[in-house]
Amino acid sequence: MKVAMQQAISLLNGGEVVAFPTETVYGLGGRIDLPKAIEKIFATKQRPFFDPLIVHVSDVIAAKKIIRQWPSLYEILSNEFWPGPLTLIAEKSETVSDMITSGLPTVGVRCPDHPVALELLQKVGAPLAAPSANRFGHTSPTEAAHVENEFLKKVPVLDGGSSQVGVESTVLRAHEKNGVWQIEILRPGGVSRQQIRDLLERKEVQYEIRRTESTASPGNLANHYQPTQPLVILENCEFRLEHLQTVLVKTAKDKLQPAELELPEEAFAAARTLYKDMRNLSQNETNLIYVIRRPHHRGEDWEAVWDRLERASSFTFRR
Ligand code: TXA
Ligand code: MG
Repeated sequence: MKVAMQQAISLLNGGEVVAFPTETVYGLGGRIDLPKAIEKIFATKQRPFFDPLIVHVSDVIAAKKIIRQWPSLYEILSNEFWPGPLTLIAEKSETVSDMITSGLPTVGVRCPDHPVALELLQKVGAPLAAPSANRFGHTSPTEAAHVENEFLKKVPVLDGGSSQVGVESTVLRAHEKNGVWQIEILRPGGVSRQQIRDLLERKEVQYEIRRTESTASPGNLANHYQPTQPLVILENCEFRLEHLQTVLVKTAKDKLQPAELELPEEAFAAARTLYKDMRNLSQNETNLIYVIRRPHHRGEDWEAVWDRLERASSFTFRR
């Protein structure tokens, strides 16, 4: 059910959940200071309580209010990338409940780069906890219609058009050790590792950056972002029907109806349409989606797209 801004604000202030647009994907929001709303987020998504929520704020000042100490590195990162697709993990203050962080002493916070989201955050009385507005493990929504399909129109949604980034934010945490910032990427996303490097080199910051496959970031579960039809990755090989024949459990009348998920040449363009294409291909008579991994997809700018494709896929065929 679509709602207008004013209605969204009253619903949120009354402890309800509302889906809203961001530049990455649509989020399912609830006020962080209303336990009823936070419970409703988990219930609506059928999300396990061990998976912590990201808190959305309208600016850096609001972010600082919900965390204990703002590392100097985050000042640099937020100056450059906020509003934008970067979630920073920091020690939480008392205003953030254990339900939001799944009992962790830290909280993820970000300022989304979307006019509707920013207006909402400014007008609602508190920051909004918001995971992606899909059922747990499913493909994230990048349009209001995706949210409506996902929850059969039972969830109020603010329509803000198509998400321009198209994959979730980069989740990052950092601590300083002997004057060198240790940066861990917990989830690759809308801000690429290269963009982070470029900034920190420009600012002459000493740092090391690595990917951490952390159970502290359960969005990293192996089976995530799944479309309703099986997805197969073909590496170093073009499509051949016999490669895929084994994938389907076949009955006598089952016919293989494969469709290719074609990736645009450029990584940011690929991210923008990824989830929408996965959804669209899952419809009609297709019963298997395949995507071809090409040599140029190895670049750092492709990290988020391939992270999602690997998690969404049933398996990879290599040659
Ligand atoms: O782009 C996005 O980040 C979207 C939009 C709506 O903002 N939100 C989103 O939320 O993707 P969600 O809940 O689907 O993913 C949040 C990710 C999860 O992988 C979670 O484990 C991780 O962030 N996370 C949240 N708080 C954390 C914490 N304190 N420590 C480590 N990881 C955390
Ligand atoms: Mg999600």
